[in-house]
Amino acid sequence: MNNKALKCYIKTYGCQMNKADSERMFGLLHKINYIPTEKAEEADLLIANTCTIREGAADRVFSNLGRWKALKKKNPEIIIALGGCLGQERGSEIQKRMPFIDLVFGTHNMHRLAEFVENLKQKRQSFCELIEELPEDIPETPSFRQNFPCAWVNIIFGCNFNCTYCIVPSVRGREKSRNPKKIKEEIIELAEQGFKEITLLGQNVTAYGQDLNEKYALVNLLRDIHEIKGIERIRFLTGHPRFINKELINTIAELPKLCKFFHIPMQSGDDYILRKMARAYNSKYYLEMVEQIRNLIPNASITSDFIVGFPGETQEHFENTCKMIKEIEFASCITAMYSPRKNTQAAKWEENLELKIPEEEKKQRINIINQVVETTAENFAKKIYENTIQKILIEKINEEEPPFRGLGVLAFGRTDGGKICEIQNINIPIQLGDIIDVKIKDINAWKLTGNIV
Ligand code: SAH
Ligand code: SF4
Ligand code: F3S
Repeated sequence: MNNKALKCYIKTYGCQMNKADSERMFGLLHKINYIPTEKAEEADLLIANTCTIREGAADRVFSNLGRWKALKKKNPEIIIALGGCLGQERGSEIQKRMPFIDLVFGTHNMHRLAEFVENLKQKRQSFCELIEELPEDIPETPSFRQNFPCAWVNIIFGCNFNCTYCIVPSVRGREKSRNPKKIKEEIIELAEQGFKEITLLGQNVTAYGQDLNEKYALVNLLRDIHEIKGIERIRFLTGHPRFINKELINTIAELPKLCKFFHIPMQSGDDYILRKMARAYNSKYYLEMVEQIRNLIPNASITSDFIVGFPGETQEHFENTCKMIKEIEFASCITAMYSPRKNTQAAKWEENLELKIPEEEKKQRINIINQVVETTAENFAKKIYENTIQKILIEKINEEEPPFRGLGVLAFGRTDGGKICEIQNINIPIQLGDIIDVKIKDINAWKLTGNIV
């Protein structure tokens, strides 16, 4: 028998959750003798861990699969698999169209990946396996982490909201919280391995615990994790505005290891559009939430997602969103043009040409909003970081920087608020995971630059 490790290449398309899923796929495959590779051409197993949040995300998957088909033609022995949210949504249909895909699986049965691959190798018969929901007892899967000293940890799966534009509830299912004991055990182990930063993940982490038998919510989990020695920073993604309450804000204000960072997507700054989106809050509610945060944590970084060109969005609605971004002073925002998703309510509205925003108009709006976001982010960063010394957690060290930049060893890390910082001319020994005082010299919308104090 040949025990040489096999190589697996995973291409990840989606959100943090998908990235964390890829690490879990590597973890599962590790048990059956696969190691990760960064080169698709040398892989024995290629997995597309897909996203379907917008049609553009799905299109990227298709064009890449075309390239993998060519690899398979050269070497028919390789295995091509499709997983993730697009797999869950329409994997079987895609496999029919692209029969060179050996294996299709979804978001709810990813924990069985190793078994699927073994099966495939024995029977040499391609197959598709999709199930409707995560098993009641959420399967625990190992992770092969790639982002030391930072680790993502899933705490809740699925989403119980029904935003009218969004496909996530149909590909990720209903909310299911992971057992708190399992979460804590995983984080203790991460701390022992030297990990310093934990990001708790879920589509709606602020709903954590609501489906558990015991009374245990996100704040309880945060307090417990705060006790774990070795862990220096704790974040969570994504929070829904509806579930951000006083107790949560107080806890974040009180506990030093909890980052003063809130990713709480607003989606639109206009009340009519928010109602059509079924977001369950209006702009007044969101503003009051921001005020509560800033009263207790004046320098908190608040970030958001926005959609432009939602069906029926007028110029005035759009301008309300731009105004809101400036007023709230978001630290940064992810913006996207509305993309209709199958079987969602908003997709039906977009079929009505009177409501549909033409693609040209969507593009114009996204360009404008991106300008607003950039200016706002830069202003916010200047206000918070100018002439300060920041604690930066080192995430990457680059010793081979080309000499023409003349900047010596460079390192990259983040502030507590999640802002990227490049550190130049490093002349003391540093390691990944160190938290270092850096004097900020330069600030723009995307990053800070500084020197070690
Ligand atoms: N659960 C998170 C969002 C998850 S999806 C929340 O409620 O905030 C990530 C982002 O994709 C969303 O915040 C939204 O801005 C964007 N998005 C979702 N569906 C979209 C669609 N149909 N078209 C364009 N953007 C979309
Ligand atoms: Fe989608 Fe809304 Fe759920 Fe977020 S809260 S995942 S936008 S349905
Ligand atoms: Fe995409 Fe699925 Fe995340 S659709 S954004 S990968 S939850």
